[in-house]
This record gives sequence, structure tokens and C-alpha cells, in this order.
Amino acid sequence: MKLKEKLQQLRSEGRGILATNFYNLETLHGVLNAASELNEPLILQLTQSSIDYMGLETAVNLGRTGLKQFGVEGWIHLDHGGSVELAQRCLDAGFDSVMIDGSELPFKDNIEITKEVVKRAKSYGAHVEAELGYVAKLGQSHDEQVFTQPEEAKQFVDETGIDALAVAIGTAHGFYKSEPELQLDLLEKISKSTDASLVLHGGSGVPASQMQKAISRGICKVNLATEIKNIFMKTLQSELRNNEEIDLRKVFPVATGEITKLVKTKLQIVQNNK
Ligand code: 13P
Ligand code: ZN
Ligand code: NA
Repeated sequence: MKLKEKLQQLRSEGRGILATNFYNLETLHGVLNAASELNEPLILQLTQSSIDYMGLETAVNLGRTGLKQFGVEGWIHLDHGGSVELAQRCLDAGFDSVMIDGSELPFKDNIEITKEVVKRAKSYGAHVEAELGYVAKLGQSHDEQVFTQPEEAKQFVDETGIDALAVAIGTAHGFYKSEPELQLDLLEKISKSTDASLVLHGGSGVPASQMQKAISRGICKVNLATEIKNIFMKTLQSELRNNEEIDLRKVFPVATGEITKLVKTKLQIVQNNK
């Protein structure tokens, strides 16, 4: 099934979908095992850094082969694509979906760059996500955020023709110093103003109850990255303390297993939202 249809179907059922970033074979298998055990669909995301780290062909092939190996219904998505050129490379490499992130550009320029990616994605049958408003990036002060405005959201979606819109409603990338307060009324207004599938970035650290409220008010795709990296590295650090093991195939699976546990709880929150 195409991602667009899947998002529409989930939305009509009042459910969401989890989009998890992966960084290597171990983090990929950790997330896929969770989706496989719960028989849930999953979006696999790659940022430019992860693409640079693994190589584009390797990254997309790992994702695609992994989906098959684990029997998971899933899609490969470019997360926070910073340029038309990168989006084009990903389309050529067979991504199902690309995000063009023009959220730091003036409104008009964001529309222009997004339109260009939508035009290119069309001939590949690929899905396009863009961001309006500004979700603070990793390490940035959360004061950097700019909430998405419903009227602008409508205009942006209408003019660009995107399938999915990342909204800024009080989340931020990375962990939070104090519990985030999602702007649920604003979300509801945005949701009423447009038919695009709405995406919640900055999923790490958002309490389950707020995530579920966001889904019931219109969020469809929920992005999760930092918690995956964190549990993987924290588990490795503790496994390797006072441990002389040199067979990495004995050490990595412990960390991979912790990712699976984490992602299973997130899948239950996001997908069994009732
Ligand atoms: P977190 O790192 O807060 O989970 O955000 C993930 C994200 O938005 C990826 O695009
Ligand atoms: Zn994001
Ligand atoms: Na976050």
C-alpha cells in the first residue's frame, strides 16, 4: 500500500503510525523486531547524517531488506531533507517518501523549495512531507520554536501540494528539561484547516497521554529518534563497563533488544490509540 493511503486509513481509524530513525544494522533490527512482534506497520527514517554515515545505497538497501526479513509493512523516508538535491538523490535511490525541511526559510521560499520537491516526487509516485512553523532542533533552546498557524498551514498545503505537514505545536527535538505542553487546541484548528496528514516531530520525551491526545486531535505520524539512540548507547556503555568481551555479536544484541522493548511500548501508544 502507498504511504499516503496508509496514513489516510490509519487516520480514519483514529490511529497513528510510528516513524523511527535508524543509524546502523543494530538499531534497524531493534525497531523492526518491535514492529514484527506486534505486527504493526512502521516508517523507517534516514537523516542526511545517517545517509552520509552508511552510504545512500547501503542505507536504503538495509532498510528495504530488513523490512522483508522481518515481515514488516513499512516505508523508507528521508527525514529533514535540507535540499532539493538530497531529496532528488533519495528519490533516485528508491525512497518511498521524502521530507523537504524549509522551516528556517521565509514562508515564500519554503513554498518554492517544497513545490519543487513535490514536482520531482510526482514522477516517482513518492510521498512528500514539509514543515511549517519551527520545531527546535537538537541542542537548540526550545524558545526557538515558532508555532504553526492554521491559515498559513492551509495556504502552504494548497500551494505546494504536499501529502504530509510537520507541525510545530510545542514539541522539540531531543529530550525536554520539563514536561512539554502540547498546544492541542492549535493542533485541532490546523487539522480542521487542511487534509494533509499531520506529523509530530520531537517524539522523544513526550508523555504517552499527550501523544495520544495529539493523535486524537489530528496527528497521524509520530517521529522518534533520540530515545532510540539514547537507549542503545546507554545499554552499550553499561554492558562494556568492566567487560572484556571482544565479540561484538555478543554485546550489540543486548542494546538492540532494549530498542525493541522501547519501540514496542511506543507502538502500543501510537497505534492502539483509542
Ligand atoms: P526526537 O529526537 O525528539 O525523537 O525527534 C525525532 C524527530 O523529529 C525526527 O525527525
Ligand atoms: Zn524531526
Ligand atoms: Na523530543
